[in-house]
Amino acid sequence: MTTNSSAPAGLRAAVIGLGRMGMRHIEAITGIGMTVCGVSDIAEQARATACETWKLDSSASFADGVEMLRSVRPDALVVATTAPSHAPLVVAAAEAGVRFILCEKPMATSLAEAREMMNACNRSGTVLAINHQMRFMEQYTRVKALIGSEQLGPLASVVVAASNFGLAMNASHYFEMFRYVSGVSVQSVSAWFEDAKLANPRGAQFEDRSGRILAHSEGPSLYLDFSVNAGNGINVVYICRYGQIVVDELNGTMRVVARKSEFRDLPTTRYGMPSDIRAENIAPADVVGPTKALWAALLAGQSYPDGEAGLHALACCIAAHVSHEKSGSAAAIGEQSLPVARRFQWA
Ligand SMILES: NC(=O)c1ccc[n+]([C@@H]2O[C@H](COP(=O)([O-])OP(=O)(O)OC[C@H]3O[C@@H](n4cnc5c(N)ncnc54)[C@H](O)[C@@H]3O)[C@@H](O)[C@H]2O)c1
Repeated sequence: MTTNSSAPAGLRAAVIGLGRMGMRHIEAITGIGMTVCGVSDIAEQARATACETWKLDSSASFADGVEMLRSVRPDALVVATTAPSHAPLVVAAAEAGVRFILCEKPMATSLAEAREMMNACNRSGTVLAINHQMRFMEQYTRVKALIGSEQLGPLASVVVAASNFGLAMNASHYFEMFRYVSGVSVQSVSAWFEDAKLANPRGAQFEDRSGRILAHSEGPSLYLDFSVNAGNGINVVYICRYGQIVVDELNGTMRVVARKSEFRDLPTTRYGMPSDIRAENIAPADVVGPTKALWAALLAGQSYPDGEAGLHALACCIAAHVSHEKSGSAAAIGEQSLPVARRFQWA
């Protein structure tokens, strides 16, 4: 997805965390017209690469993110470090008076940290967004427009047939996707993890899980299958009253199959009725375009994934751990029923 929107003139942004995602964030913020006034990473090589790639003066480069905030006083900040530093950096930025913060997912490593981030931003009047970019991706906007239509009818469930993409690393995005396309939140989660821990490319200190998750809401359900033994592709099936939408997310194809209109009112048990079938290309999964669109929406005061959205996805990941530890019994979403202070070693 691309956006023609631009940031208000003169808006100055800084980025903390200059790994793969941080570099994409610089592309996004410069792409919508913000000026990069500071970059920070604990790794010298990451700082050097960012300065060279984006032609930044070494005076804009800082090893300490909090010192950078004090020194360059950005209007906007991207936190693109790994998860353990999301909370302290967001809280420090809010206290330093940063007006807009876009923090990477997973929002935090615990529910307590996520609350602390939201409280700090509320106190300072800082706008906090979490980079769950689903509502800006064609693979979901196109699906959302079809769900509930005359041709497909209401959504019954969503099935994600994925590969070894990790609970916090990627499944977390699908809880937000589900909320976006279905309009309802997950209320409880049942999970069955595989024994293997994911080898995380971001470092041996990080731990993520694979397996199967069933998420329940008051309406449709969400099923995610992401096994360590699955090494290619992400296909999502949206199962509706009159038909199905199948999206190959990595290759950008969408197939819509729905009963011919004259058979719509027959019972669901008549699932083999003649169908209308169409295939379309959609924009394949992308990071920079939707992140630009997120900034544009946030700066224009439109809908964007806020702290509550990040917290919901986080609570679903934590509920998955709780459920797995109880052999798959459903774990309710909510700070009353989940461990609030428990931290997870996600990246
Ligand atoms: N929204 C998305 O689609 C998406 C996609 C990829 C990654 N992510 C998220 O973005 C974050 C970064 O991922 P990545 O792939 O760029 O990881 P990465 O390991 O490539 O980069 C992380 C960088 O952060 C730096 N860092 C860590 N702690 C720091 C601290 N306290 N202060 C300053 N710098 C610090 C590291 O030195 C490293 O350069 C992760 O939380 C990841 O889950 C989101």
